[in-house]
Amino acid sequence: MTDRYHSFAPLYDALACEPVSRPGCLAGIAGLRLRPGQAVVDAGCGTGLNFAWLEAAVGPGGRIIGIDASAAMLDQARKRLRRGGWSNIDLVRADLTAIAPDALAGRVHGAAPVVDAVLATYSLSVTRDPAAAWERIMALCGPRTRVAVVDMQVPTGAAAALAPAAALACRPGGSDPSAHPWTLLEHDAPDTEASSLRGGHIQIRAGTPRSAASR
Ligand SMILES: C[S@@+](CC[C@H](N)C(=O)[O-])C[C@H]1O[C@@H](n2cnc3c(N)ncnc32)[C@H](O)[C@@H]1O
Repeated sequence: MTDRYHSFAPLYDALACEPVSRPGCLAGIAGLRLRPGQAVVDAGCGTGLNFAWLEAAVGPGGRIIGIDASAAMLDQARKRLRRGGWSNIDLVRADLTAIAPDALAGRVHGAAPVVDAVLATYSLSVTRDPAAAWERIMALCGPRTRVAVVDMQVPTGAAAALAPAAALACRPGGSDPSAHPWTLLEHDAPDTEASSLRGGHIQIRAGTPRSAASR
């Protein structure tokens, strides 16, 4: 697949507008209710902006698996790992819309490729097929896996005046603000908790999807 992040990966952190995006990430991570020792997938991890927060939650005995299709973004993530001195983070280059169910075998709880949590921040709206990515993510989940989806939409209501700026912000990364990938979690997790930030621009959902087998 085309890597639209290739040329601006080294600039991603500077351009990510963290004051806007980070509160959504933190809310998503809180929704995962992580405990020390757990294994969490950061789906579409990019440069690893979530890693420090995930590390704080799962601790050195936990495991973090960052999955991304972009070699250039993973290069930046690798540099972050070195800076952080973290040895419990694996980086996997894979297309979320095609990742095999056993792609994480051996990385999580020995042989069982089932994770405790999955986080997807601002990534599903960038995949060309969020529904396909979702099916593949569900294949990594067990009956108790927590999942959080954080993504952007065009602001509505009182914040509608900000819509052109929000659409502009989505464009460089190729995010589709009409994708609304959090509806996939709402559909599969009856216990989905919902919140939003920045006038509805950032949508946060967390829940426990029914496992792929029982859907
Ligand atoms: C906007 S960035 C978000 C990165 C990170 N989650 C964050 O919050 O900063 C979107 C990321 O999704 C990745 N991505 C897009 N489509 C993908 C796919 N089909 N499979 C894996 N990664 C994908 C991109 O390479 C990019 O790193």
